[in-house]
Amino acid sequence: MPDFVAPKGIPEYYPPVSRTFEAIRRTLLAAADRAGYGPIELPVFEDTGLFARGVGESTDVVSKEMYTFADRGGRSVTLRPEGTAGVMRAVIEHSLDRGPLPVKLVYAGPFFRYERPQAGRYRQLQQVGVEAIGSDDPALDAEVIAIADEGFRDVGLSQFRLDLTSLGDAVCRPAYRERLIAFLDGLDLDEPTRERARLNPLRVLDDKRPAMQEQLAGAPLMLDHLCDACREHFDRVRQVLDALSVPYELNPRMVRGLDYYTRTTFEFVHPLLGAQSGMGGGGRYDGLMAELGGQSLSGIGFGLGVDRTLLAAQAEGLTVGHPARCEIFGVPMGPDSSLRLATLAGELRRAGYRVDMAYGGRALKTAMKMADASGAALALVLGDREIVDGTVVVRDLRSGEQNAYPMGDLVQVVGPLLTAVPVV
Ligand code: HAM
Repeated sequence: MPDFVAPKGIPEYYPPVSRTFEAIRRTLLAAADRAGYGPIELPVFEDTGLFARGVGESTDVVSKEMYTFADRGGRSVTLRPEGTAGVMRAVIEHSLDRGPLPVKLVYAGPFFRYERPQAGRYRQLQQVGVEAIGSDDPALDAEVIAIADEGFRDVGLSQFRLDLTSLGDAVCRPAYRERLIAFLDGLDLDEPTRERARLNPLRVLDDKRPAMQEQLAGAPLMLDHLCDACREHFDRVRQVLDALSVPYELNPRMVRGLDYYTRTTFEFVHPLLGAQSGMGGGGRYDGLMAELGGQSLSGIGFGLGVDRTLLAAQAEGLTVGHPARCEIFGVPMGPDSSLRLATLAGELRRAGYRVDMAYGGRALKTAMKMADASGAALALVLGDREIVDGTVVVRDLRSGEQNAYPMGDLVQVVGPLLTAVPVV
């Protein structure tokens, strides 16, 4: 046992898996970048009150899972459990909502929830998120959903599903809530469930126990009780999603773990992820900005779990990005050739290739083994004879084929060699 180990429930990524993780994060971010979302960098801890008010006191996230502590000045601060509240705080504080609307922002980073660790459920989790603030347009809802869908598809995933529903708004939800409470009152509920129903009756609908599912079969659903404006909005979102060819399933029993949601709400679910199958989720939060002291602007966004996207990619057997640390590996034979190879490696890197080499005066055999282990497709072999000739031997590690080329041609030569279909 080493003297120090990482805190419990926190995944750490190091090569080679970290390359895949990084490639996934980059891919998800790129989808948002293509739709005009600007990056925002925010603190990982904030005033505790921001999350209590923004995310909601009745949520598990706030009531049970926050990393809250007093800093040295005695202020209560909390490691951010999610990103939306902080983005809204920044938009209000820096008046980002005074320019053209919607304000479109994208972020990536770690979030912290003191949950019981299990496969796919961590205490430090990584998300890529977007928030679009200041427009009610249902086409914007569809855009946000389509970005997530495209991001996951760009990663290579194909086996996920998109669940969609509408949670209504301040006009229709209160009446629906009363209806649901009346229905739940008539059921035979155990004490913890009764308590849950008291705090947030909607959350009871998510109870996975078969006996409860049976009791809840006839429960009233928000989707059947939307007001005209919410119904129209939701129909339009669906229309645009259809036009964008984004497939989805209606799931009127979807329950999100955060209180700020209104109207469009969605979740990306991957069936190979086991119990923690939510790969990403989001929705509208039309009352949040006013709740946090800003003007009354609506908003919509998502948070995609990078850790779970990685697990899903592994479950689907995908290769994402470059799992190998380099594509070209230099094998020097002697100090002079080491200097030459270092120079050639520099040239190739400046030309955009990923190049590594053997250091420390290794024997040829050891250096060739290192070249193989590096995952590179090509090895550059250079000895005294090549230095005299002004050449370098390029060996295709996939096929074993090799040829000598003039050093000056190397940058031109490697491109076609790398893409050549290897003879196995
Ligand atoms: P969320 O559903 O709480 O939403 O989290 C989004 C995603 O983060 C989840 O779908 C999941 O992939 C990942 N995630 C959450 N908790 C964990 C965990 N303990 N371990 C691993 N992954 C986890 C939000 O956070 C909202 N802020 C999303 C949003 C943005 N809604 C509107 N705008």
